[in-house]
Amino acid sequence: MEKWKTQVLPPDEENIRLAAELLQQGEVVGIPTETVYGLGANAFDVDAVAKIFAAKGRPGDNPLIVHIASMDMLAPLTVDVPELAYRLAEKFWPGPMTMILPKSDRIPNEVSAGLSTVGIRFPSHPVAKRLIEAAGLPIAAPSGNLSGHPSPTTAGHMLHDMDTRIPMIIDGGACTVGLESTVILVKEDRVRLLRPGGVTVEMMEEICPVEIDDGVLHSVAENEKVASPGMKYRHYAPVAEVTIVEGSLPAFRAFVDSQKGEGVYAVVFNGEESDMPVPALSFGMEDQPEAQAHLLFDLLRQCDELGAKKVFVRSPDRHGIGLAVYNRLLRAAAFHIVKLEG
Ligand code: TXA
Ligand code: MG
Repeated sequence: MEKWKTQVLPPDEENIRLAAELLQQGEVVGIPTETVYGLGANAFDVDAVAKIFAAKGRPGDNPLIVHIASMDMLAPLTVDVPELAYRLAEKFWPGPMTMILPKSDRIPNEVSAGLSTVGIRFPSHPVAKRLIEAAGLPIAAPSGNLSGHPSPTTAGHMLHDMDTRIPMIIDGGACTVGLESTVILVKEDRVRLLRPGGVTVEMMEEICPVEIDDGVLHSVAENEKVASPGMKYRHYAPVAEVTIVEGSLPAFRAFVDSQKGEGVYAVVFNGEESDMPVPALSFGMEDQPEAQAHLLFDLLRQCDELGAKKVFVRSPDRHGIGLAVYNRLLRAAAFHIVKLEG
């Protein structure tokens, strides 16, 4: 792979122009969005798209989503868009929602991994919008982490994973949502949730029925056919072994005490840290899932920096964006859950 001196640049006009030129020339650029940082390239250029897979070390059977910056960009990329998709777009775009729709011939098979559908997202981050507009192209972009690592929520995280692999990262600050977009398969009269995110089940249910795919809360066997290929892969994982622990705070404390040893950490809600028998990190207030979403991936990266070997995590509430927090934690924990009495 080509070795770059990866530059992290502020999003001023000159740098947006430079990044847009790189995209037009078929290079890959680090792009801030409101969810996580993305590894972007021209969605029409198969060589550029191949560079995304190479930089990330991503399996070729996992499709990319395509980012647009206006509703006018949707029509050329898709066919037979259900009317429901326009209603969802009206309500939730620009924003953290990806719709899986039947693809047009303009989307190369390299982007859709051979599927007949394509994921489309219209991000709300002003820098993402300016970049897509300046390039004048739909931008294919997965999360900007090495495959299997937690998604980057700052330019620094992205540099850590992508240094020397890509020419440039535009620094748009810390991502406000902090977890990847909600992915939905849009049918005529309902949607199927493939990946929970910032546009929550409760929000979508104001518009239409929402079916939750099995893969959201359960592990998928290696050879099973899945609606979304990304579900197959262990994801978002720090090096440490992560365990979700269900039960009351006293039960959690007693359990962690029985497990204590070198490299054992606890991840708890705000205010619970000082009471723990092992070093503890906080992931926000118990009743504030938005804050937990914002902190989660940074926390998983911190666990690696601390050299954690085992991490025990208090189980979060699953309402609203809490479902997305829980879904990512499940994958970080490789579905390892301990249920305590009391
Ligand atoms: O928030 C986000 O969605 C970020 C930012 C950069 O926009 N992007 C992102 O991309 O998370 P990625 O590639 O890391 O995750 C996209 C997920 C994958 O699990 C993939 O398998 C699934 O969406 N996906 C993409 N196209 C699909 C399709 N046509 N059918 C089913 N699933 C699809
Ligand atoms: Mg990803």
